[in-house]
Amino acid sequence: MIRIVKVKNYEEMSMKAANIIVGQINLCPKTVLGLATGSTPIGTYDQLVIACKNNYVDFSKVTTINLDEYYGLDAEHNQSYRYFMNKHLLTKVNIDLHNTHIPNGKAGDIEAECRRYDDLIESVGGIDLQLLGIGHNGHIGFNEPADEFVPNTHCVSLGESTIKANSRFFESRDEVPKKALTMGIKAIMQAKMVLLLASGEEKTEIMKKALFGPITPAVPASILQLHKNLIVVTPIDLA
Ligand code: GLP
Repeated sequence: MIRIVKVKNYEEMSMKAANIIVGQINLCPKTVLGLATGSTPIGTYDQLVIACKNNYVDFSKVTTINLDEYYGLDAEHNQSYRYFMNKHLLTKVNIDLHNTHIPNGKAGDIEAECRRYDDLIESVGGIDLQLLGIGHNGHIGFNEPADEFVPNTHCVSLGESTIKANSRFFESRDEVPKKALTMGIKAIMQAKMVLLLASGEEKTEIMKKALFGPITPAVPASILQLHKNLIVVTPIDLA
């Protein structure tokens, strides 16, 4: 079932999303949160930090599992997703960092790392609430447009449009890693709740395709139409 919550702007989207996450953790303190990077969730993370500082939410028993990581970047690199998550959320709330998980982009054996990540997701009982953004080409995590949906954690070659979009965070386009490790579609679809955020007019077309177009691996986010509990929070006019 898809629920679309139309909000006024980015700030309201961030407040709403944070409220939903706070509600989930308060109902279930041992929540397994699936987390995302990108500019979209930054406001949500800011709100979660404020909520934690005000004692509205307690992260001490929460586990987090991130969607993806660039291949070849170590955790200290300032464009790694570990660095991003620590900076925007994980070191600012009372979570035990041992319970925060992100694929290891520097793993020697990538296949083994992907299997380890899937085993980890299984061992914590799957994801309770998965937060998602969406790429301009419809990717979720780094599940890029492809001929088929890939169920498990895997190493992916990033598309040209993704490299271009993400180059804004790097000194130059050449520095953007060409590959990434990403959670697959299965763990996302098995999450008990998916919270999809999108803002900015430039995401209008892809959001319409994802939510109302054909379900196809050419638009990876379109698979979410089949999710049993999808909440979309967006200021985008989807009518
Ligand atoms: C990256 C991440 C995605 C994210 C996307 C959109 O590619 N791997 O998980 O959804 O960026 O980013 P933004 O929110 O900055 O538009």
